[in-house]
Amino acid sequence: MTAPSIVILTGAGISAESGLGTFRDEGGLWAQHRIEDVATPEGFARNPQLVVDFYNARRTQAAEARPNAAHHALSRLQTEHAGPVTLVTQNVDDLHERGGSVDVIHMHGALNSALCSDCDHRWSAPLEMSVGQSCPNCDQPTARPDIVWFGEIPYQMDRIERALLDADIFVAIGTSGNVYPAAGFVQMARHVGAKTIEMNLDPGENVGLFDDIRSGKASDTVPAWVAELLAR
Ligand code: APR
Repeated sequence: MTAPSIVILTGAGISAESGLGTFRDEGGLWAQHRIEDVATPEGFARNPQLVVDFYNARRTQAAEARPNAAHHALSRLQTEHAGPVTLVTQNVDDLHERGGSVDVIHMHGALNSALCSDCDHRWSAPLEMSVGQSCPNCDQPTARPDIVWFGEIPYQMDRIERALLDADIFVAIGTSGNVYPAAGFVQMARHVGAKTIEMNLDPGENVGLFDDIRSGKASDTVPAWVAELLAR
């Protein structure tokens, strides 16, 4: 019996206990800011300073946050599970990496990365980006946060889809199942016969598609599930 191939999708809920805000919970980021102002290419074109300030604030908060037990548990799974573990996150913080995870797929981009909207060059973002910052590759004043905004195409979708086609287990952690294509991953996993597990504080929009629902805080549910799986 070969060890199962596991695909994990995380959302803002896994970083909530590290003190980083989620988007759609009460008082969340989308209650404080209009998506169209801070998370679209049109918003950036209209008011780049507002957008740069928004991500500078989130980058500073993420730098001051610490990984929690859920991040560490996923790192333990990657280390100790004999089969493939593909970790996909919608989050733009680096708490998975600072919790010990490797090869994390940031499908919505990353706060610690900067992107040149002219030549597509990427480099490590300073803690505070500024409007009109020059690209170190093409020297144009076209630096932007390396975040996938609404209306843009998420990163590494080919790799994610290949992993889903081979999945024996698909786990969604701390995501409301509101945003596609991530919210559709569970359907792809079901299509290939994978066991599907949701770990969430509140049920996600697509909760009906999961075989196993583990309600509660990620810092409780994730370590418990990892210990259970590794003990098999
Ligand atoms: N433990 C587990 N789950 C939690 C916790 C916690 N401590 N706190 C909150 N949650 C759950 C909520 O119940 C909710 O289901 O995390 C989920 C957060 O949902 P959202 O705020 O919608 O975040 P997410 O699903 O990651 O959003 C997806 O939307 O705006 C875009 O690009 C943005 O990546 C983001 C995407």
